[in-house]
Amino acid sequence: MNPTLRMATPDDARECGIIRYEAFKAIAEQHQFPLATPSPEVGAASFSRWISHPGYYVVVAELEGRIVGSNVLDERSAISGLGPITVDPTVQNRMVGNRLMQAALQRVSERRCPGVRLVQAAYHTRSLCLYTKLGFEVRELLVNLQGSPVGLQLPGHAVRLATDGDLGNCNALCRLVHGHDRSGELIDAIRDGTATVVEHESRLTGYATVVGFSGHAVAESNADIKALLGAATEFVGPGFLLPARNGELFRWCLEHGLRMVQPLTLMSMGLYNEPQGVYLPSIIY
Ligand SMILES: CC(C)(COP(=O)(O)OP(=O)(O)OC[C@H]1O[C@@H](n2cnc3c(N)ncnc32)[C@H](O)[C@@H]1OP(=O)(O)O)[C@@H](O)C(=O)NCCC(=O)NCCS
Repeated sequence: MNPTLRMATPDDARECGIIRYEAFKAIAEQHQFPLATPSPEVGAASFSRWISHPGYYVVVAELEGRIVGSNVLDERSAISGLGPITVDPTVQNRMVGNRLMQAALQRVSERRCPGVRLVQAAYHTRSLCLYTKLGFEVRELLVNLQGSPVGLQLPGHAVRLATDGDLGNCNALCRLVHGHDRSGELIDAIRDGTATVVEHESRLTGYATVVGFSGHAVAESNADIKALLGAATEFVGPGFLLPARNGELFRWCLEHGLRMVQPLTLMSMGLYNEPQGVYLPSIIY
């Protein structure tokens, strides 16, 4: 199939939201995993936000004038975040996804972005093969955890809401861990009132944009992340993501009653620095 590709406009949000919902519903039901997007309306609301935000690039694919899929690039920080990519279930596995991925990768190359990352539903054989064929490398097995708030305060680790004044220290910490900062995402989270920081021995030692699917966190130690997790009043959306290789933190979460929802894969292309600290990745969007 040879779809026409174009940048999304605000009028496309509803259609993109429906396709996103239907595409994830089909694959989740097939594997009996819970739905990350609870309704077409929630899907459309996200698209409205992305399409109107200058930090996102949204591309749609059309066949005979009808939208059949979309792809999203989060360009708010140094490394682009790719996804969600979704294709109408009635035309899947016929190269539409491939074309949408090529469009996003062309954009990454035109902007001379040093790297791009994505999070893939590990149970989905098709997306894993598609991304691998296009050059993405598997970096990390992730676990998606959800449950009741832990409600725990770690001695010597004070958690508070982040302010604009924390931006410099947060970005410096992120650069230590990832080699680049995620300032664009953090600025949005501080403005939205969801970002938190943890301080230990009078120093900022970790932050989270939001403890949930769409937020990331970086910290000097597992204790700092535990403090951020312990202070969270909810794990927003379908829960948060944790690198499974961090066994100590994974066990701590399980010991505190959290349940694993699904496995995911962190993949990237281009610049990728092996993290030098503790982190929770975001689903991208
Ligand atoms: C994932 C998705 C976007 C891919 O779009 P698509 O149009 O179905 O995929 P395409 O036909 O372009 O590409 C699939 C590729 O994977 C290959 N493939 C699929 N299943 C495979 C398997 N089991 N083993 C090896 N290769 C496989 C296909 O042969 C094709 O490669 P080719 O183009 O070189 O022939 C689409 O299926 C979708 O919306 N899925 C539900 C939502 C979702 O999971 N989104 C991604 C979240 S991580």
